[in-house]
Formats: sequence, C-alpha cells, structure tokens
Amino acid sequence: MERISQLQVTRNAETRDGWSCFAAHRERVTQLLLDAASATAAKLCVLGAGNCNDLALDRLADAFAHIDLVDIDDEAITAGITRQPTVMGRVMARGGVDVTGVASLLSEWVPEVPAADEQIDVCLACAQQAVLPLTAGGYSVAASSCLLSQLIESISLTLGAEHPRFLDLLTCLRREHLRQLVDLTMPGGTVVLITDVVSSLTVPELATASTSELPMLVGRAIAERNFFTGVNPFVIKRMLETDVPFATQLTDVRLSNPWVWDLGPRLYAVCALTAKRV
Ligand SMILES: C[S@@+](CC[C@H](N)C(=O)[O-])C[C@H]1O[C@@H](n2cnc3c(N)ncnc32)[C@H](O)[C@@H]1O
Repeated sequence: MERISQLQVTRNAETRDGWSCFAAHRERVTQLLLDAASATAAKLCVLGAGNCNDLALDRLADAFAHIDLVDIDDEAITAGITRQPTVMGRVMARGGVDVTGVASLLSEWVPEVPAADEQIDVCLACAQQAVLPLTAGGYSVAASSCLLSQLIESISLTLGAEHPRFLDLLTCLRREHLRQLVDLTMPGGTVVLITDVVSSLTVPELATASTSELPMLVGRAIAERNFFTGVNPFVIKRMLETDVPFATQLTDVRLSNPWVWDLGPRLYAVCALTAKRV
C-alpha cells in the first residue's frame, strides 16, 4: 500500500475506539448536517468519514434517504458502519477513494529528495482532473469532515513544506477540494466544510477554555499565525465569497464558532463553513 494511504489506515486504527471521547464533536458534526438537510429524500455525502466516530449515522439516516461515506481507508469505513448497524441499507461505504487523485504520486516523494518542477506540474494537472466516483450535483448536502488538514499534511510529508512549490500544491489541492464539494452539491443544497484549525499542542488552553472563551482563543491563535497551514477559516471563507467560480456558485457563506474535538491524547479546535449552492 502506498505511503499516504498507509498513514491514514494506521491513524484510523489508532482512533477506532474513540466513540466515547468523540461524543461532543459527533454531536456538533451530526447537528450541522441535520440542520442542512432541508428536503425530504435528501442525500448526503461525507468526504473523510473514516471510522464514522463523528457521525451519528442512525440520526442521519432518519433525515437522509441516502448517505455516501467516502474515505481513502476502506477498512475504517467498513468498521465504522458495522459498528452502527441500525443504518444498514441507507448508507453506502465508498472506501479506497483518494479525493485528491494524487496520493500515489505524492507517495513517491520524500522531502529529502526535492521533486522536480516537471513532476510537480504533472501532479497539479492530475489533481485538477481528479474525478470522484460520485454523482455531480447529486447531493443535498456535501460535507468534508476534518479532511482538509490531512490533505495538506500529505503534501508536507512528501513534497516537504520547505519546497519552493509547496504553496502551489497546497492552494491547488485546497481549491480542488472546495470545487469537489461545490460540484457534488445540487442547486439549493448545502456545502459543509468542517476543519480542524489548531491543536492543544500549540494552544494548551483548549483544555480549559469555556465555550464562550473559544472564539477569542482561536481568533487570537489565528492572528498569531498559530494554526495548521492552509486551513485559516477566514481565508477559506473569503475564497468562497470572492473567488471565481465559487462566488457565483455559492451564497450565504457562514463560519461557525469553534468547538473542541477531543481525539484522546490531543484536543483540536474545529469550525465549520457552510454555504448554499445557487
Ligand atoms: C481526521 S480523519 C476524520 C475523522 C473521521 N471522520 C472519523 O470519525 O474517524 C480524516 C479522514 O480523512 C481520510 N483521508 C485522508 N486523506 C484522504 C484522501 N486523500 N482521500 C480520502 N480520504 C482521505 C482519512 O483516512 C481519515 O479517515
């Protein structure tokens, strides 16, 4: 198995038993998706569903007629669905899907041996042509759950954050990820990007902050450039509001207040961007 897939499989195996500590995060994620499920016969897809510890599938299956769960890690999705068996039938596991289309290309690189410009150009072209095995415009709600930071980390671990083309690849994968979400969403539907922003490793106050203190705490961390590269939610909000084609495809772009995701050994500040598909 290639390096990027293997890493995700290993990490998902480590957090598979996290159902209990994920409880508050699961409630936030599930409620966000339920709030977005307006129509009857609504359809949901979640990119980065992994172990599904952040999804109360029984409640989601009551609100959505069909749910597609997508992840590069087939084993995690299968185990996640098996653990929530009440929903068998409505929920489709789509494991082994690399949303970037370039995980295998990236896996060939190590930061110590800088990739050549030509290799990076090929990678950018492949990422821009990546097609998901999902119906374009087929979902009332298309969501990404704490996946964007993983996609960006996969560039740091392979191309390396010091490579002069690092930002080229980061902006390309981020943009393509947003484009996928928008393309999957039907007119009138909702795009939901949930992203972890920073962890208790560099903001230890996440362990003690009250709900009302969190926006200030996370806002300050962002102002001090203390956040995961590429996931500044204010920057992404502005992209969705002003960049072509997003600005013409989306309306009512909103950024939620942050909440804390307890992953066990570490806490993460997470927030959600939602937008309506025109
Ligand atoms: C932080 S986890 C999300 C947590 C997950 N929803 C759960 O409850 O376990 C990010 C997920 O993204 C998946 N992932 C990472 N890179 C991916 C890629 N290129 N394509 C598809 N999924 C990917 C990982 O396998 C992992 O399950």
